[in-house]
Amino acid sequence: MKHRHEFEDWARPHEGVMPNRAYYIPFAPGQDPVQAMRESSERFVLLNGTWQMQLYDKISAVPEEFCQPEFDASGYPPMPVPSCWQTQGLDQNQYSNVRYPIPFDPPFVPHQNPCGAYRTHFTVDAAMLSQQVYLNFEGVDSFFYVWVNGHRVGYSQVSHSTSEFDVTPYLVEGENLLAVLVMKWSVGTYLECQDKFRMSGIFRDVYLLVRPRQHIRDFGVRTWGRENYTRAVIQVGVEWNGGEGELEWELYDPQGSLVCRGEAATEFTIHLEEPHFWTAETPELYQLLLRTEEEVICQPVGVRDITTKGRQVLLNGKPLRLKGVNRHDSDPVTGFTISYEQALKDLALMKQHNVNAIRSSHYPNAPWFVQMCDRYGFYMIDEADIECHGVTELFGGGDETTFGLIAQWKEFEPLILDRVQRCIIRDKNSPAVIIWSLGNESGHGPGFEKAGIWGRDYDPTRLMHYEGSWHQTGGHINDTSMFDLYSRMYNEPAFVRQWLANSANTKPFLLVEYCHAMGNGPGDLEDYEKLFLEEPGVLGGFVWEWCDHAVDGGVTADGRRKFLYGGDSGEFPHDINFCVDGLVSPDRIPHTGLKELKNVWRPVRAYLNDGEIQLRSTLDFADVSQLAEYRWELQLDGVVVEQGRGELPAISARQTACMPLPCGLPQQPGRVDLRLVYLARTDGDFVKAGDELGFDQLTLRQSEKQELRLQPAALAVEEDDEEIRVSGENFAYVLDRFTGCFKSLVWNGAERLAGPMGFNVWRAPTDNDRKIRRVWEQAGYDRAQVRVADCQVLAEEGTAIRCELVFAASIRQPFLRCTAVWRIGADGTIALKLEGKRDEVFPFLPRFGVRMMLPAGFEQLDYTGYGPQESYLDKKNACWFGHFAGTVSDEYVDTIKPQEHGSHVGCEQMRLRCADAALWAAGDQPFSFRASHYPQELLTSTAHNFELKKSDEVELCLDYKNSGIGSNSCGPVLADEYALKETEFRMQLFFGFAAVTTE
Ligand code: GAL
Ligand code: MG
Repeated sequence: MKHRHEFEDWARPHEGVMPNRAYYIPFAPGQDPVQAMRESSERFVLLNGTWQMQLYDKISAVPEEFCQPEFDASGYPPMPVPSCWQTQGLDQNQYSNVRYPIPFDPPFVPHQNPCGAYRTHFTVDAAMLSQQVYLNFEGVDSFFYVWVNGHRVGYSQVSHSTSEFDVTPYLVEGENLLAVLVMKWSVGTYLECQDKFRMSGIFRDVYLLVRPRQHIRDFGVRTWGRENYTRAVIQVGVEWNGGEGELEWELYDPQGSLVCRGEAATEFTIHLEEPHFWTAETPELYQLLLRTEEEVICQPVGVRDITTKGRQVLLNGKPLRLKGVNRHDSDPVTGFTISYEQALKDLALMKQHNVNAIRSSHYPNAPWFVQMCDRYGFYMIDEADIECHGVTELFGGGDETTFGLIAQWKEFEPLILDRVQRCIIRDKNSPAVIIWSLGNESGHGPGFEKAGIWGRDYDPTRLMHYEGSWHQTGGHINDTSMFDLYSRMYNEPAFVRQWLANSANTKPFLLVEYCHAMGNGPGDLEDYEKLFLEEPGVLGGFVWEWCDHAVDGGVTADGRRKFLYGGDSGEFPHDINFCVDGLVSPDRIPHTGLKELKNVWRPVRAYLNDGEIQLRSTLDFADVSQLAEYRWELQLDGVVVEQGRGELPAISARQTACMPLPCGLPQQPGRVDLRLVYLARTDGDFVKAGDELGFDQLTLRQSEKQELRLQPAALAVEEDDEEIRVSGENFAYVLDRFTGCFKSLVWNGAERLAGPMGFNVWRAPTDNDRKIRRVWEQAGYDRAQVRVADCQVLAEEGTAIRCELVFAASIRQPFLRCTAVWRIGADGTIALKLEGKRDEVFPFLPRFGVRMMLPAGFEQLDYTGYGPQESYLDKKNACWFGHFAGTVSDEYVDTIKPQEHGSHVGCEQMRLRCADAALWAAGDQPFSFRASHYPQELLTSTAHNFELKKSDEVELCLDYKNSGIGSNSCGPVLADEYALKETEFRMQLFFGFAAVTTE
């Protein structure tokens, strides 16, 4: 096909496209459009369905006549629309984060440029022919030409925006041919370097709007609170097509009662008394009906305003706090194509986990998605479809030098503006959108400054944001005056506090991305939450990111789902598993990090205060006692001994209130905890009455330090050059002189070890360990050897063996020296006292403890510590101290890339049982353990969860400490307090065997 290189023409990004307008769907006058699905509109003709599509590898291979009605397309395979062609087995999957998949040579793209030639037919009747017919595409990646009945209609780009064409002149009565040629690469590709699978095709809905010749073209609705929010104003401006007509309007309140009505041509203002204000907590919508002679349009109206006062962002005059997530349109099966059901599932999960805000990273979502946020109550940062991150990867370039390249490139200026306009104009009537974002990671320069000024002037009723504006490169002096927020990503809390301490910084601070939720993590949610709760100058943040991106790879022979990440499709370049960094799996199963997040964002927090409970609301508008009640559990040493229910006192937004303890303390000695579980009072859209909203655990009395004691006994000891054998009535243990650990534990006539026990400093690196992992490996922690410098039976009361241990790896000097004293009691109980000293030149340790492999059968687990889900020093907000029971198999926590998981911190004791024996362990200080069918070596070396082979044996790690999790996969380094940083440490651990009593 001959073409004029339009997809490489940066001077004319679109041809034949209608000017931008707000998103709305007209209905026929007799129809009731309030809360109606657009599909029910008589004016709306959905063209989705099975089209035909032939993929060519370059435009020159496309037959010139493919768009002509007479073209024989019988060989063209079927193609669902909407869909991404990669999800249909065509072309190639490619996951790239920062890097452009094509040579950086704007505006040009490679001649080898896959293009999809689409064809479909639709029927037009005589009635339609007398109307104006518009063809709408809500999303096509990345550039497309359109023909109707062989006539060229035009072309467009900006993948995640709507392109509307007037096709009236080309229609005929009866069958009509719509042909679309979609180019994979275009000049737009340079502006769409978002961190995602790079997919192509008509991936969102295609439809016709059949409208009268004279109709409302565009309209804007703005609202403000007045007189201390006792009143409000709604201002509407209407623009016509085909000349001004007569307009009747009606406004209905959220309960559906008519508030007022009127007539106007182009402008009207409504004054409301005692208005219902829209917030994400109370998403009450008025319905505005715009009636013209032949159409009716319904616009949901959220009455609200957003302003800043100093460093505070105010919604309806009250300080606002965003509990946000970054969300991509992504699904392993459907790619970028997201249905209502899929979107609702995300929104439901978000509501159920206390999320109140969404950043549409890094492009506008489908327009109906924004309306869902209006309806269900989510604040949105609506982001223009712009990211040019790849400019930092140029040879000789970088963050400090070339980041602003496109932002400062004259020819790109109109393209940046175009993208910003397409986002803002389309979604300008949505109350959910409180902040516009100019894009992501594109450096800064005049392109963004001009777009920012345009946006601020066009819509002064929202806040303007662009994170990239702090990057100053290329000699350009950044102007950031058009931005209302100071926005950054991944800074540690201390950085933010420092920034706030500087009074020259006058804007509200926003962490537009933080707590990178990759793999096992994030571990630092609560530390950021402290920042948000303490610092009114921080608007909050958006966790990166909502979902894991992966492509569906079918199932394994044993029925496990295969999710593929970067590199699994043989692509270059790729960024391995950096795409699986979400709070939910690709198929939307919440990860443990999401459970953490939910409780960190609980609507109310409880503290002990002078024998009373102090409650602090974390809501901004509603009284939490209207939304939640609670049930309580009184625990003695982790076991619930009493429970009940209660009502919360009235607590207005952001305020505190006190209530007495709901119960007295038990007489018996032991640790006493009170757990308050907040429960929804009423049914909402996604949360049902009685659902848990979060919890607090208050420790009313600490554990009394129980001196664990060993019954000393002079046991039979035999030793030779290799081992020391200790035996008693019911046991025979063998200590290996070369490991300093036991290699055999026979108890009650059976061997209880499936392999030798050993000291352990390693863990299967988490994704958040990916940077420190390299340092650990340089230190040799992954291949540490233990040399026993001395091993002696001690001449002391009872039976004891002392080992002097030196830990070192090939190439390196020793990093750790330990003294281990093993004592064995009359009943076979083993006490291990360890004193360790790490050489300061070495990095902190992943973990430290002993590890044993237990034979198959040790499946039943119980413990007193932080559960029920995995817990770490910094990742235990979804956990509480308690007594928990389950199985070792259930300790597995799924991540697509296997890694350390399933540990439990703060444990007082644990037990594993097989048919005839229980192995128990206890510490004289809280310890961490991990019991698993997936040993750390396996987790370290396996690339995908579906490749893991479950072993029958059980790996048991008993640790003095397991370093915390953090979010260093992209965020700051693990905070000192959570790392095993101490250079000197000691622990005492007891373990032994007991007969299993039937419980
Ligand atoms: C940020 C970026 C996101 C994503 C994340 C890493 O820098 O804005 O799009 O790439 O890093 O997962
Ligand atoms: Mg990026």
